[in-house]
Amino acid sequence: MIREFDSALLVTLRNARHVAVLTGAGVSAESGIPTFRDAQTGLWSRFRPEELATSEAFDRDPKLVWEWYAWRRDVVARAAPNPGHAAIARLARLVPRLTLVTQNVDGLHQRAGSSDVIELHGNIHRSRCVRENRLVDDWQDVGDVPPRCPRCGAYLRPDVVWFGEMLPAPALEQAERAAHDCDVFFCVGTSAAVYPAAQLPLTARDAGATVIEVNKDPTRISGAVTYSLRGASGDILPRLFAAAWPT
Ligand code: OAD
Repeated sequence: MIREFDSALLVTLRNARHVAVLTGAGVSAESGIPTFRDAQTGLWSRFRPEELATSEAFDRDPKLVWEWYAWRRDVVARAAPNPGHAAIARLARLVPRLTLVTQNVDGLHQRAGSSDVIELHGNIHRSRCVRENRLVDDWQDVGDVPPRCPRCGAYLRPDVVWFGEMLPAPALEQAERAAHDCDVFFCVGTSAAVYPAAQLPLTARDAGATVIEVNKDPTRISGAVTYSLRGASGDILPRLFAAAWPT
């Protein structure tokens, strides 16, 4: 009989008390949302991050930056969660405790049924006032691009983290706490190239967790993890969880 997954891995999963999952753009790739660093299809192979994802870029050309995010919002709105998102939502019902941390800004985990998602890099569906720094969810469309804050008239910007900006402190603290506390840590569809998110699997490993990477390609942390499962998350995760918890 060919065993698809290491039996020790399946036992570890079944015995897990607290599972943490960190996801990146790869988990949404099968939903048709481009990743950042894939050589042919990644956003950063076609666009320059410093022209679009920095506050300097927004100061220089707010219309260009707003429209780029409007385009991405539209791509996300037309996309649907895939079996990888669904498997992670299901995992929350299979283990005693699950902490889901994402670098994605697309909201697809929530649409797949996950709750309490820790969003390290914000959410593309939210906007905030650049002056007052508060979230604004309603404004009158009078043709301004970017739209203006209804209270103070300053520009609105997407509520995402740009290069050079700090991550939301409560989200990062919760993620770090989970990395220290969990006994199994999944690292799914991320190149682990952007810090501080990329540190989380290493923190978990150093704290004694079993670290499982799920990625279609090797990454810079593949050599440091306990298990490297090579393939698409929408294929691997449902099969892995079905093997660990057969119905
Ligand atoms: P990347 O584009 O850097 O990495 C995506 C990873 O997903 C790569 O390692 C791919 O091999 C892998 N991948 C692609 N398709 C996959 C699939 N179907 N199943 C499994 N893996 C797959 O994206 P992130 O690591 O998320 O930050 O990038 C981190 C941050 O860099 C993003 O949050 C964004 C970006 O700049 C901000 O915008 C602040």
